[in-house]
Amino acid sequence: MTARLGMHTLTRDRGLLFGGDYNPEQWPEHVWAEDVELMRAAGVNLVTVGVFSWARIEPEPGARDFGWLDRVLGLLSAAEIAVDLATPTASPPPWLGHRWPETLPVDESGHRLWYGSRNQFCPSSPVYQERALSLVTDLADRYAGHPALALWHVGNEYGQVCHCDESAAAFRTWLRERHGDLDALNEAWGTTFWSQRYSEWDEIVTPRRAPYLINPAQQLDWWRFCSDALLAHYRAERDILRERTPDTPITTNFMGLFKPVDYWSWAGEEDVVSNDCYPDPGDPLSPARTALTHDLMRGLAGGRPWLLMEQSTSAVNWRPHNVPKPPGQFRLESLQAVARGADGLCYFQWRASRFGAERFHAAMVPHAGPDTRLHAEVRAHGQELRRLASVAGQPVPAQVAMVFDWASWWALEERGRPSDRLNATDQLLSYYLPLWERGVSVDLVPPSAGLSGYALVVVPNLFLVSDADAAALTEYVRGGGVLVVGPFSGIVDERAHIRTGRFPAPLREVLGASGEEWLPAAEDTPCRWADGTEFTAHTWTELMAAEGAEAVAEFTESGRPAVLRHRTGEGVAWYVATMPEPAALGELTARALADAGVRGAVPGLPPGVEAVRRGDVLFLLNHGAEAASVPVSGPAEDLLTGAAADGPVTLAPRAVVALRVQG
Ligand code: GAL
Ligand code: ZN
Repeated sequence: MTARLGMHTLTRDRGLLFGGDYNPEQWPEHVWAEDVELMRAAGVNLVTVGVFSWARIEPEPGARDFGWLDRVLGLLSAAEIAVDLATPTASPPPWLGHRWPETLPVDESGHRLWYGSRNQFCPSSPVYQERALSLVTDLADRYAGHPALALWHVGNEYGQVCHCDESAAAFRTWLRERHGDLDALNEAWGTTFWSQRYSEWDEIVTPRRAPYLINPAQQLDWWRFCSDALLAHYRAERDILRERTPDTPITTNFMGLFKPVDYWSWAGEEDVVSNDCYPDPGDPLSPARTALTHDLMRGLAGGRPWLLMEQSTSAVNWRPHNVPKPPGQFRLESLQAVARGADGLCYFQWRASRFGAERFHAAMVPHAGPDTRLHAEVRAHGQELRRLASVAGQPVPAQVAMVFDWASWWALEERGRPSDRLNATDQLLSYYLPLWERGVSVDLVPPSAGLSGYALVVVPNLFLVSDADAAALTEYVRGGGVLVVGPFSGIVDERAHIRTGRFPAPLREVLGASGEEWLPAAEDTPCRWADGTEFTAHTWTELMAAEGAEAVAEFTESGRPAVLRHRTGEGVAWYVATMPEPAALGELTARALADAGVRGAVPGLPPGVEAVRRGDVLFLLNHGAEAASVPVSGPAEDLLTGAAADGPVTLAPRAVVALRVQG
């Protein structure tokens, strides 16, 4: 990531950004003027334009119609609304697939996916690439230097996968680069198993639909390739933009914990990290889940501010049953993002569509028009964000790091594993939850991150670990760090080969413990702490032995260790050989925090209240259904209202305060 360009390039003169996806091509021009007026009244200062406008700009191959876009950008720039201009390459027009069917993606069964929806392109198709890059070149040439242009939005939500012959050829090229020769590939993929040995490169295809379980090493390389193939396309677009507009930052919108794309490898390739976030109003874990993805974005941005590119003011239209957000909810969610490092709060979309597949998706201006409860809330929120301008650019300090890795996620969730109930993101959330409940800020980091600055490092699951990353975790503890490692970690190497010997082989020494069997549990498993207090674990157990560590909890029936704690070097390493119930994981977390000397932002935080410190501002957000009183010490000012606070703060449901501590 080039530090020269970033969110500060945008917020410097504007404070926090507020706005959304603007799709004027769906409306007659007289509506545009009203849009701009309403945007100004709502404090909108950034809109994303053109995401799905390929067919409008290039109505037939090679044609260019920029006139309408000139007028849109002209209106916006006259109103001093900055534009996040999209390269419209996420959704090619029907003519591309009609004339060049090879640009259409093919699924694992060999079926072509057609136009009539969106995203129908093969990431490895030369024709798609050529057409997309030619359009991006003309777009950049036309709008370089335009006063409205503030940010580039490359594509949209990259995640396409294709199994066509062109993709298979690209996969082989990628494999040659990774493995060198065919012998090395056969070795890495363990092709002596099931007679899978490849004798010529051309025999290798993508993991297409097959009679039974697919080779896990092939599958793992496929995940890697798919992420890299999309990245290569993103970079090609980005390079065109960067060459023509070196002072305009570039982003592409991520999708949180999205499996097909390794965002650690992508984030450094953009100037601004941005994310689309659609918490499910029907899921009680949404507040914690959302906090976790926000922390991931901050981690991807290297601790710098990021942009919430898309969220919804109310219901979406793509869940089976789309529960709306109650009044105050989108504001609460928006401020949650600010608290966790977002410097821009944007929505999908500005004006609700009249036609098309998303006409039942909420927007900033609903079908019923601006004179509505919902739009009034949008306006009020846009206005109040100005009061938080000083928060822009402020860091969110964290003493705790949580390690998450895409390759390990891919390797773990393969069909032939001991249990499909041990999943990477579920493990991540269960270890995150007790920290979130205690108001402890967490940085999400890749396994290769420097860890020495953290008091506590939590590794909920690292099924795949490299020798170097395992050694770094060991070093971290020796140097005085506190480490917590969850079950089924350290099991395979980068080729998804089992590390033989007692597990987790590369972490055995630092953990002072090792195991010999994985024992997925048929039912809940009783456990007890060393003082005899009982708790329940579920789903997963391991047959472990202490080798220097103390067993702080054991499986009641077998008396074998369930949770181990090892003092080694200057630090402490914990290993959790099961999936403890939430309260027990909370207890374990509290002990590890005590080992690390880390405390939450506010002691005695009531349930449902989130507490985060950003710069000198303490954000308190009530996600609970009841009013809550939070003990806050010292005089403070609520930036959102200007009101003074001293002593306990009472928060109604969905209320937020942003307290700047005085003095
Ligand atoms: C995102 C997408 C938007 C819109 C939105 C609806 O996936 O980028 O274009 O479809 O979801 O929630
Ligand atoms: Zn393809």
